[in-house]
Amino acid sequence: MRYTVLPILLFSLSCSNPKPAGPAVAYSEPHRPQIHFSPKQHWMNDPNGMIFYDNTWHLFFQYYPDSTVWGPMHWGHATSTDLVHWKEQPVALYPDSLGYIFSGSVIADTANTSGFGKEGKTPLIAIFTQHDPVGEKQGRIDFQRQGIAYSLDEGTTWTKYIGNPVLKNPGIKDFRDPKVAWNEKVKKWIMTLATKDRVSFYSSPDCRQWTKESAFGATVGAHGGVWECPDLFPINDNGKTVWVLLVSINPGGPQGGSATQYFIGDFDGKQFTSSQKEIRWIDAGTDDYAGVTWSNTGDRHIFMGWMSNWQYAQAVPTKQWRSAMTIPRELSLTKVKGQYYLRSVPVKELDALGSQENVAANLTVLEKELSGPAKLHIQLKQAESFSVTLSNAGGEKWVAGFDADSNYFFIDRTLSGEKNFEKGFASRITSRRIDTASGLDLTLIIDNASAELFADSGLTTMTSIFFPKDNYTRISIKGNKNFRMKTASLIPLKPIWDN
Ligand code: FRU
Repeated sequence: MRYTVLPILLFSLSCSNPKPAGPAVAYSEPHRPQIHFSPKQHWMNDPNGMIFYDNTWHLFFQYYPDSTVWGPMHWGHATSTDLVHWKEQPVALYPDSLGYIFSGSVIADTANTSGFGKEGKTPLIAIFTQHDPVGEKQGRIDFQRQGIAYSLDEGTTWTKYIGNPVLKNPGIKDFRDPKVAWNEKVKKWIMTLATKDRVSFYSSPDCRQWTKESAFGATVGAHGGVWECPDLFPINDNGKTVWVLLVSINPGGPQGGSATQYFIGDFDGKQFTSSQKEIRWIDAGTDDYAGVTWSNTGDRHIFMGWMSNWQYAQAVPTKQWRSAMTIPRELSLTKVKGQYYLRSVPVKELDALGSQENVAANLTVLEKELSGPAKLHIQLKQAESFSVTLSNAGGEKWVAGFDADSNYFFIDRTLSGEKNFEKGFASRITSRRIDTASGLDLTLIIDNASAELFADSGLTTMTSIFFPKDNYTRISIKGNKNFRMKTASLIPLKPIWDN
């Protein structure tokens, strides 16, 4: 995004006065997501520091606790024991004299390479960008650098390292969003960092001293905007290690505004290489940005994104809070015509909200009431044209589907509800089908203000937010004359908020 420079006064926000997580709210305001994490109140953007540690899923996030638009960034915090129900915790990191706390990651330093551990306690280390708004206002280019903090109480309280910044700015204006992971081959920490419209890799034995190893991206990928929030991780494909690099970009996304591309390749401990020619998006919809994966999850790769788009995020018509996260998604690899692609599917933990399948077979249409969040799953024998419509009595509707003639999935929110807050919001978007299989399957995770579409077992994913005046109460599926659903199920999902 383009950052607004705020008064120096904001620097006086201190680390010593933790703010409570906010008043009790019923999570029942208009447009309030019921199965997605959203903060009780105020502004949220990127997921940060996601780590699974001691049986707890931690989600930190870009947070401004004083307003519903972007401002001096803090790290908010939420925890979950099942990846589905979230409990908002007190703010974890506050701006300080080095600046706002921008996006970053958290690692568990089990071998105590950093020396922050005490009495056998594993330090959790947060690595983040410190963004100095004063330097920015003065027209300097070195106003973003990387700092660290550690926690010896499982992420509840954090101590900033006295030696910050640990990575100074080398003269690159956009120098941010460190994602750190241990690399067993070189036995060092590797930091994957967004540097203008490239990704740079740094290494460190202890998380305190960082050495530049390489950069990637000069001649590949989308370059219509600044690169942000990268993530690098290996996926094991039947004994072969394949490396995946996620990179968010803003603007320059396929539907306008922000989006996240990915590269398949190899990482030798120093350098990432890829022979991928075309641009690939982890989510071809409008509303999945800055997503990265959880740390410390072994062979699982669990991704979560910010369910909005910088093009209109600060203008969407919610009052008490702004923005929600996507549902957590399991990532895996698949091959199409000999090329690796990423698949994303809802994590299996989501079944805790409802999994009782009432499967109907051999249908040509489906018409049902919607009384809250739901999961739709359909399988087609033949990839024929069809549409799924969510609607309310006021005539507002959100439509998604597949057009067999053009081989495109589409989402149309031109009549989906409130739209005047931004001129590009009420659009119809498309994404080319990647799969070449004759059959097709589609899963839709529906909430009050969003739908996440996973087609062909997650080979094409499209996330879309919407703001109908009243929640949608009907779902209907129709197709061309050859359209037939081999199976169809609509599973109501229980809201995650119990207060
Ligand atoms: C991405 C981003 C990051 C930055 C953060 C600031 O949405 O612009 O690059 O760290 O948001 O809030």
